[in-house]
Formats: sequence, C-alpha cells, structure tokens
Amino acid sequence: MKRPIAFIAGTGRGTPATVMTNYDFAAIGIETTDEWIVERTGIKQRHIAKTESATDLAAAAGRAAMERAGTHAGELDIIIVGTASPDRLLPSAAVDLQAALGAGRAAAFDVGAACSGFIYGATVAEGMIATGNADTALVVGVEKLSAITDWTDRSTCVLFGDGAGAAVFKRSKQHRGILSTFVRSDGTLGDLLCRPSGGAARPFSSEVLADRSQYIKMNGRETFKNAVRSMSEAATRALDAAKLTGADIDLMIPHQANVRIIEATAKHANIPMSKVYVNVDRYGNTSAASVPIALDEAIARGVVGEGAIVLLVAFGAGFTWGSMVVRL
Ligand code: ACO
Repeated sequence: MKRPIAFIAGTGRGTPATVMTNYDFAAIGIETTDEWIVERTGIKQRHIAKTESATDLAAAAGRAAMERAGTHAGELDIIIVGTASPDRLLPSAAVDLQAALGAGRAAAFDVGAACSGFIYGATVAEGMIATGNADTALVVGVEKLSAITDWTDRSTCVLFGDGAGAAVFKRSKQHRGILSTFVRSDGTLGDLLCRPSGGAARPFSSEVLADRSQYIKMNGRETFKNAVRSMSEAATRALDAAKLTGADIDLMIPHQANVRIIEATAKHANIPMSKVYVNVDRYGNTSAASVPIALDEAIARGVVGEGAIVLLVAFGAGFTWGSMVVRL
C-alpha cells in the first residue's frame, strides 16, 4: 500500500433550505407518483435552491470544511470546483468561490467531469500536492441543477437536487490519506446525457428557448446500463490499486443517482449494503455534490471516523467515472 500524499483534513456541506418531496410534483403539473419515483430511483425528496446561488452553497460547504480542518481561507493554495451548473459560464465557479471565501492567495479553477467532478478534483489536488504546487487544497462539488432542469420533462425533473459538498486536502504526514485513485472517461457517449444548447456550437437563441434544448437531456436506460458497468469497474480498480478487497472497506460512498445502480455496484465490489452509504432518498441526484455531501454526512453522523477506510465511487455525463480509496 502506498504512503499517502494527501489526506482529508475536514469536510463540509451546504444544502438549500427548501425541500421538495415527490408529492410536490403534482402542484407543478408533473404526472408522476411517489410510488413510481421511489420504486425506480429510491428518491423521496430533494433540496431545491430557491434563494441560494451555487456560490452560496459552495461557500457554506467550503467554510464548514475549513473549520473542521482547522484552517482558513488565507491558507488555501488551490480551490478546485467540480460543477455542471455554475452561476455563470465565465469566469469559473472556482474564482467566484474564491472571492466569496476571501482566499486571496489561491489558484482557483473548475474541473468539467459532471457527477465525477469531486473525485476528478481530488485526484488533481493530490497531484498538485505531490508536485509541491500546493500544501492545502479545497475541493468542492456543487450543483444548482434545478436551474438547468427541464421542469416539464418528468423523466428527468424528478431525479435531480441542489447542494454542495467540500473537503480540505492537506499534505499527509502519517498513514491517513488517499490510498488509490482511478479516473476514466468515454467521450463517444457524450450525447446520452448532455445539454445540447447554450454552448458555443448552438448559443442561446429564440429557437433554443423554444425547443428547450438548453436543459439536461438524458437517455435514462443507456445511462443506467453504463453507470452500473462503469461504477463497478471503478470500485474494483481503486480497490486493486490499493491492494484491498471489499472486505477491507469500512464504508463505500457511491454517487447517489439511483439506489438500483448503487446496489448493483456494491454487489459487484463484494460490499454488503450494510457498508454502503445511501442518502439519495433525501437529496436526489446532486451530481458533483453527491459524493462529498454523503462523505460529510457519514462523518458527521459517526458512521465512519478517523482511521476508517472509505471507497468513493462516481459516474457522470461524458461519460466520466472514477473512484478513490481513502483512509480518513
Ligand atoms: N413518473 C411516471 N412515469 C414516468 C416518469 C415519471 N417521473 N418518467 C418516465 N416515466 C414513464 C415513461 O414515460 C415510460 O412510459 P412508457 O413506457 O409509457 O413510455 C415508463 O415510465 C418507463 O420509462 P423508462 O425511462 O424506460 O423507465 P426506467 O425504468 O428506465 O427508469 C430512470 C427511468 C429512473 C430515469 C432510469 O432509467 C435511470 O435511473 N437511469 C439512470 C439515470 C441516472 O442515474 N442518471 C444520472 C447518472 S449520471 C448523473 O448523475 C448526471
């Protein structure tokens, strides 16, 4: 097992105040039922940012993570944000977060890896700590997916939620830290889950607004199949790289998109559901925020503590997928 380069010094989360249950869809004219959503996805409710911006959520998560890590904004060398729903397209969500935190000496940038953004970001942070470019890194996954969701499309609008999760990574001086990472992507499958318009290829126009193609479009069945295959691969690859098996893991924290995908991934990695953290029922799919929110909740609830070995696994648009084994 390699000597860790970077460890998680503290985690935090920021969740919008407003909760929308499955029963609330009737009020906005969506033909669905609590039974359908729970059976297909496991989701019962999600948080929706009515008054909070993505930057507000990211800053709340970042401040909480820094407090737990015993650090402050002035000590951050890098800020990496994983997001598919930034407050604005230019400049990055990370520099908006930097300004909100007052992290004057940091280099701030986004990673575009959709739901895998936190794991991609943590992998980059580890690399920058390894090369001596940083000692302290803030990695945040944040989404305000409600702003890019088509609220007339029942096949997607029931799935998503808003929120942010964060972790402070510091140079490891002991056995705690990242034991392995694995990241992959397949851009040939990009059309299966995308926002077709609003980018430079098809900028906003009256036609775009009329065909609603600025919103998330997803081929649910293909996404489901790829998510199971790729998350299973990711779980196995990170375990192999750390020379561990499912039996050595105290907790698996998978991307929270769908409880059936989570169950299939756990089965493949030989990890019983009793050792899998699930909160998709309360948050829905918060994309890049889902893994760090779940990690922070698991720590805050005492499900895992210092010394525990945790497997993080994610999958998202791209498709992108990745995993990480960490000793807390
Ligand atoms: N309520 C009621 N009925 C619905 C709803 C709804 N909200 N949405 C779709 N339906 C209907 C469809 O219209 C369809 O009806 P039809 O047979 O009369 O045409 C029927 O339900 C079945 O639809 P499917 O899309 O085939 O349902 P499926 O069993 O595949 O479940 C789901 C759909 C839940 C989206 C599933 O495909 C899934 O979970 N896919 C993966 C999604 C995912 O995890 N995405 C994110 C991963 S990456 C990331 O996090 C960004």
